[in-house]
Amino acid sequence: MNYKITPVEKGKKVEFKNPIKDFYDAVGGDEGMQKLMYSFYDKVYDSDIAHFFPQDEDEFEQVKIKNTKFFIEICGGPKVYNEDTKGMELNEFMVRLHDDFSIYEKSRVEWLGTMAEALKELENIDEVLIKDFWDYLENFSKLTVNTYPDGSVYYANL
Ligand code: HEM
Repeated sequence: MNYKITPVEKGKKVEFKNPIKDFYDAVGGDEGMQKLMYSFYDKVYDSDIAHFFPQDEDEFEQVKIKNTKFFIEICGGPKVYNEDTKGMELNEFMVRLHDDFSIYEKSRVEWLGTMAEALKELENIDEVLIKDFWDYLENFSKLTVNTYPDGSVYYANL
């Protein structure tokens, strides 16, 4: 499996599609998703993007919980992400939530690289399904980038 990352292009429309539910089913539903996301966040804690996240253990735990719920829902599982999305569609809400953080392409690449490490731990999952999930992450994550090396800020729209 090639965890390819294509560069973000400021202002360019980002095309993405939500993961097919087969990935959620193949990892083992809610429990499998939780295992994957907890592993991801444990790695984030030791990564170059750790400073973006709460250092307090209890607060970090809350991020893990909310994050897992989002990923369960976006992957086609039950609608458990019970946050107030302020009338926005889930993906749009998620992009806007990231506006509060200065995310560079470098942060995105670290985020994706960390996720790739977590995905490599999955066993006996069809590569086609991992690729489908990866494509969502790789494309969607471009929308979370809002700060550029020249210092400019640009908030992407879906
Ligand atoms: C595919 C791309 C991404 C997805 C789907 C995603 C998803 C999420 C989710 C579900 C949450 C928790 C939302 C909540 O509080 O309810 C979150 C929070 C957050 N994400 Fe992302 N994320 C992505 C990319 C990134 C990237 C590239 C960064 C760069 C550092 C990042 C940084 C953060 C931060 C700082 C928070 C808030 C943590 C806090 O509550 O203090 N995310 N993200």
